[in-house]
Amino acid sequence: MSLPSQATVPARIGIVTVSDRASAGIYEDLGGPAIRKTLEEIIAGPWTAQSTIIPDDSEQIQQTLCKLADVENCCLIVTTGGTGPAPRDVTPEATAAACDKMMPGFSELMRAVSLRHVPTAILSRQTAGIRGSSLIVNLPGKPSAIRECLMAVFPAIPYCIDLIGGPRLETNPAVVTAFRPKGS
Ligand code: MTE
Repeated sequence: MSLPSQATVPARIGIVTVSDRASAGIYEDLGGPAIRKTLEEIIAGPWTAQSTIIPDDSEQIQQTLCKLADVENCCLIVTTGGTGPAPRDVTPEATAAACDKMMPGFSELMRAVSLRHVPTAILSRQTAGIRGSSLIVNLPGKPSAIRECLMAVFPAIPYCIDLIGGPRLETNPAVVTAFRPKGS
């Protein structure tokens, strides 16, 4: 029996909603579904989502990110929420604690793009980093922010995942063109 080629193996993507209220059922989770919908538009080819909703608890965020990276083999993990200045907002610190190296270009671009929409974009401390073969990207909790930020950074995500040994992601060129340097 031959193994399926890499192109037919669905990429695994983690979607993490970080919110005390959504995890307690007080709020409907709008962020997780917004990430999924945006990724469905962007990504061409098979992928599966591992979605979870957790409270704003540093330990739980770190454990969730580590499990999605190390056990679930997600090549991309996208979080939403908990990036602001409020006392319970700890997603960026928990992300940094789970990562081997940080990727500050992602947060620089996401905040710059968000600033075109709202002056309060500077309140998001959203970050991104690498754990093993997983790229972790924080997004703010606002559903509109999710699309704006993902569209901005996605052109660089497939090549980033190539470089860390993940599966080859292709995008729908009508939505986002993945950029890979010539010869790669
Ligand atoms: N970015 C975009 N694109 N759109 C937004 O509405 N809201 C800002 C900021 N970034 C926003 C945004 C606000 S008001 C806050 S407090 C921070 O994200 C942090 O949000 P979070 O704690 O839900 O992650």
